[in-house]
Amino acid sequence: MSQAVKKLMESAAEAVEEGNLKKALFDYKMIVGMAPNEPMHKVTAGEICRRLEDKKQAIQLWRAAVEAFSAAGESLRALEVAKRILELDKDDEWTRKFVADVYSRSRKDEVEISAGEDIEIDTGDEDEMDIAVEDEEESGPEDLDVDFSDEAGEPEKAVPEPAAPRVIQPESLPAIPLLSELSRNAFIEALSKMGRKEFAAGEAIIQQGAPGDSMFFLVSGQAMVTTRRADGATVVLARLKEGDFFGEMALILKQPRTATVSAASPCVVLELTAQATRSIIKEFPSVANVLTRFYHERLLSNVTKTARIFTPFDEENRKLIISKFKMVKEPKGKMLLEMGKPADAFFIIAQGKAMAAAPGQPARMLAEGDFFGEASLLSRGEEPETVTLMQDAVLLRLTSRTFNELMMTYPQFLEIVSGMGMG
Ligand code: CMP
Repeated sequence: MSQAVKKLMESAAEAVEEGNLKKALFDYKMIVGMAPNEPMHKVTAGEICRRLEDKKQAIQLWRAAVEAFSAAGESLRALEVAKRILELDKDDEWTRKFVADVYSRSRKDEVEISAGEDIEIDTGDEDEMDIAVEDEEESGPEDLDVDFSDEAGEPEKAVPEPAAPRVIQPESLPAIPLLSELSRNAFIEALSKMGRKEFAAGEAIIQQGAPGDSMFFLVSGQAMVTTRRADGATVVLARLKEGDFFGEMALILKQPRTATVSAASPCVVLELTAQATRSIIKEFPSVANVLTRFYHERLLSNVTKTARIFTPFDEENRKLIISKFKMVKEPKGKMLLEMGKPADAFFIIAQGKAMAAAPGQPARMLAEGDFFGEASLLSRGEEPETVTLMQDAVLLRLTSRTFNELMMTYPQFLEIVSGMGMG
C-alpha cells in the first residue's frame, strides 16, 4: 500500500470519527481511484455511501467488490459483501443472479460478467470528484498506486483499460463448505438468513460450555480453537482461517460448545442460526453429510490432542493408533461395562460423561479423554466396575483383539493404560 493511500485512509478515519462522512467519502473516492484492485476500499466506500443514504452508489461499489473478491477466489468475502447489498435491496437482481451462478450447487457454466461498469460517486459537494472505477482484472500483483510524494508533481491517473468481459469459472473457485451444496434459491435464502458479526483480536466468538445455537463462517481474519483439559491446561486444537466454518459440533451433539473459538486477529464472521441450518438440512440432506464429516474429523483430532493416552506419541503415531478405533454413538443410560463380567472392548470417551461405580467405593465421573475397559482386558478377568453413560456420548471403541495388538506394538500404550506410565 502506498504512503498516499495510507495517509488518505487515516484522513478518512479521522473524518468518520468527526462525523464528516462526506469528507471520508471524498478521501475514499481518491483511494479507490489510486488502488482500483483492492476491493476492500470499495467495500468501505460503499459503506460510507450507505451511511450517507446513497443506496445506489453503495450497491454499485459493492457489486464491483463482489466481482473482484470472486475473481480472486475469496468466496466468503464476496458473499459477505453480497449480503450487504441484499440487506439494502433484497431484490437486487444482479447480486442474486451473480452469487447463485457462481456459488450455488447449480454452478456449472461459466459466468460472463460485463466488466467495467463505471461507478460515479456523487457526494453532492462542491469539490466532488467522480472516479470511474475500472475493471479490476489486472495481471500485476500490486495496486496501481499513485505516490503523492513523487516530486514530479501531479499524480498520474490510472489509464483506463478497455473493458473486456471477465469470465469467472465457478468450477475453479473453491467451494464454500456447506453453502455450495445448496440450490440457487436455498443459497440465497441461507445468505439472507446469516448475520454478520465482527470480533476484535482476542475476543471469544464461542465460549466452551456455553449453549450452542448457531454456526459460523469465517469471512476474514484468523481464529484459534482451544479447550481446557481436565488437568486445567489449555490446549490449542486448531487454527482457523478465512473460509473455514465452525460451531457445528454443538448443533450436531445438541450439547454445549465443545471448545472456545477466539479471534486471533480482527475477524468478520457470518452466523447461521441452528434453525436455519436445520431447515437447510431438511431440504438438502447432503449438507448433513458434510457437517458430520467435519465433525468426525475434528472430534478424532481433538481426542488425540487431549486424551492422556496419546501423550507419548508423535502426530504420525497418534493418527495410526486412532485409525484402529471405531467411533460409536451411545445413548444416555447405556451400560457399557458390567461389574463381574469380562469386558469385550476398550473405550475412550470422545464426547460425553460416564459414571464408573463399584460397591464400597466413591463413584468416579469419567469425561472426554478418559478410558475404561482395560482392567478386564489386561487381566483377562472380570470388570471391577460398572460404567454407565450419564449423557448421550460419542465413544472410541477398540475390540479386545485390536487392544492386544496395540499393546504389543506400542509399549507406551501398555504403560499408560496399566497405570505404570505418566499421568
Ligand atoms: P462447537 O463445539 O459448537 O464450538 C466450538 C467449535 O470449535 C466446534 O463446534 C468446532 O466447530 C470447532 N472445533 C473444535 N475442534 C476443532 C478442530 N480440531 N478443528 C477445527 N475446528 C474445531
